[in-house]
Amino acid sequence: MSAQPTNNTAPDMVNIEIDGKPLQAPKGSMIIQAADKAGIPVPRFCYHEKLPIAANCRMCLVDVEKMPKPAPACATPVMEGMKVTTQTKRALDAQRNVMEFLLINHPLDCPVCDQGGECELQDLSMGYGRSVSRFVERKRVVPDEDIGPLVATDMTRCIQCTRCIRFTADVAGTYELGGMYRGERLQIGTYDGKPLTTELSGNVIDVCPVGALTNKVFRFRARAWELLARESLGYHDALGSNLYLHVRRGEVLRTVPRDNEAVNECWLSDRDRYSHQGLQAADRASRPLVREGDAWREASWDEALAVAGKLLREAGAELGVLAHPSTSNEEGALLASLASGLGSKNMDHRLKAVDFADAAFAEPFGLPAAELENADVVLLVGCNLRHELPLLHQRLHKAGKRGAKVFAINPVDFDFTFPVAGKAIVAPSLLPGALAAVAQAAGASLPAGVAAGTNDQAKAIAEALAGARQAVVMLGELAENHGQASWLRATARALAAKTGARLNRIPQGANAVGLARHGLRPGQGGRDAGAMLANPLPAYLLYGIEPNYDFAHGAKALKALSGARVVAFAAFASEELKALARVILPIGALPEVEATLTNLDGFDQHTQAGGKLPGEARAGWRVLRALGGQLGLQGFDFTDLAGLRAGLRPAAPAAGEGLAPAPAADAGLERITSTPIYRGDAVLRRADALNAHPLTHGARIVLNPADAQSRGLAEGAMAKLGDGHGNAVLPVVVDARVAPGAAWVEADYAATAPLSPVARLAVVGA
Ligand code: SF4
Ligand code: SF4
Ligand code: FES
Repeated sequence: MSAQPTNNTAPDMVNIEIDGKPLQAPKGSMIIQAADKAGIPVPRFCYHEKLPIAANCRMCLVDVEKMPKPAPACATPVMEGMKVTTQTKRALDAQRNVMEFLLINHPLDCPVCDQGGECELQDLSMGYGRSVSRFVERKRVVPDEDIGPLVATDMTRCIQCTRCIRFTADVAGTYELGGMYRGERLQIGTYDGKPLTTELSGNVIDVCPVGALTNKVFRFRARAWELLARESLGYHDALGSNLYLHVRRGEVLRTVPRDNEAVNECWLSDRDRYSHQGLQAADRASRPLVREGDAWREASWDEALAVAGKLLREAGAELGVLAHPSTSNEEGALLASLASGLGSKNMDHRLKAVDFADAAFAEPFGLPAAELENADVVLLVGCNLRHELPLLHQRLHKAGKRGAKVFAINPVDFDFTFPVAGKAIVAPSLLPGALAAVAQAAGASLPAGVAAGTNDQAKAIAEALAGARQAVVMLGELAENHGQASWLRATARALAAKTGARLNRIPQGANAVGLARHGLRPGQGGRDAGAMLANPLPAYLLYGIEPNYDFAHGAKALKALSGARVVAFAAFASEELKALARVILPIGALPEVEATLTNLDGFDQHTQAGGKLPGEARAGWRVLRALGGQLGLQGFDFTDLAGLRAGLRPAAPAAGEGLAPAPAADAGLERITSTPIYRGDAVLRRADALNAHPLTHGARIVLNPADAQSRGLAEGAMAKLGDGHGNAVLPVVVDARVAPGAAWVEADYAATAPLSPVARLAVVGA
């Protein structure tokens, strides 16, 4: 019997041919996608794999057998047996004609254009452009708009591909750009002339194929071919976005995304893109400094290490080690070894936490970040996701477009770009009860002492969670740093267990998961960060910390530290740090060192050293190795980073189960304390463009209209705030999104540092 023909094509694939090459492509996909996969070049301007198809540039015209005229490859679906040719005379003529039309109105700006050398139009015009223009009329000129401190515009260069419009609409979800006028007068702009407010605005620079939208901070600083690309990571949130630092002669001049579908896809938040500006701040610590009386002088490394070693040895078991939660795994493990070698069990990185009763540490997400977009029910608790993790918010935006139901239990009705199916906006003290009501409605066994009465809304959320295909409960900053965080965590865990939802606790710091794993946590009987500052120790080692901003309660921390001997490892020698330290050891910031960070999914990711260390600053692990060696401690005898990494023994920290005592009812407004999106660490606080962005509001108090009215406070008035710990005078903003009985006062500003993060506020007109 002769062999029967077999069909090896999967049912959801079709057979096509491009330039004579047989290919298989998914049904419904476009010719350009099949060509890209096969490495067959098709010119394009408007097509972008992450954006909806617009097909408005016509640069991708190709010849398709039996079609009467060239077809756009980005908008023509593949069909069984389709034969496509990209290099026929008809296809090439079509592409050349499109290019000629595009260049009619394009300025001859290449020598002064920031896009030069990495411009899609410049590249393609080399292949498809004519050397002489047949157009002799005047070229069109389009006025530029000021769209904020991050993105520069040169709209005369715009080729109206609409990628930027589609990005703000479909990815960022803010619909801030659009097309105005028609035909030859079509212009891309904001309509209202206001700055872009999306936290992802820098991505319009990457998607713009020409130099119409460029990086304002990088403007005229360098040419693309002068730059070296170094692989690095975002370190301002726990997503750990993959990125390249673009470096010239050791100076980080710009940051661009590095594709990783499991982490940041091809995007970057503005926070990660523009923070490098802070590295060049005037107060960078570039030489070891030692204090003599009230004066500071520069010292050699040997002398500074000797001073630091003496202070640390004298402190011994009474030493407190506090590290910023973005500290790398290598540095964290060495700090833990240093503290234990000196006999101290007092170490911690949970600087903004208030409730330590359950001894909780950051843990990897129950539902990985990349899968969040497939969740169908999400409950956000104490979470301003858009500011905490901008690219995770973008994943949830995608989930929202697919019909996911997102619920929120928050003290402020935060702005999200997805629809919220139901919300409970309550003062901070009512958050545990509101979450417990959902847990009770779901039939979860509540932790002892957690009381709730359920209600219709709680029942609806519980039903949605229980009936979901993939549900997730997310605890954000306002839950993790809440005065009763232990209650919220226990209740969320019980709710997730009962409904089958995954629990995603947002790590409070870029490497909180890694530091917990690598032992930078209190030893048996040791003090946590709260206890170390509540009952001051005689000596502290501060690692990468700005004491006035990085602790939950800046004023309390300054008080505890000012009476102690402080050894500071720091990238910045601020006046506040100088006021209390005895010695400052200059260390590199993350973009300047090799390091490993563990992201919110629990993955270890490595960075390369990008920027040059300033002056005599050294990588932190080198300084710790020298210090540990000088103190004769074990575990410091490695010679390089590989030796250090070989000795790391990560372990999962065990969380306890205690609950904080219920707070006493008190008079005054409850403070809602959140971290401003561009003020979360020392580098961000020095990044000028981010601090000039509209999302950096400055210190202020935001009140519900009823609370403002009852105090006689109008929008723009000044209010005096006092909480028994400190006072502040702040401008008033009136906003119905804030829960009644609460006052939203962001942290990380000098004016708000005296206030406790959880105490009630007496608020009166100034
Ligand atoms: Fe030249 Fe491209 Fe700039 Fe146009 S956008 S001026 S082609 S570099
Ligand atoms: Fe396209 Fe850039 Fe013009 Fe936006 S500004 S439409 S991305 S060319
Ligand atoms: Fe196909 Fe623009 S890339 S029409």
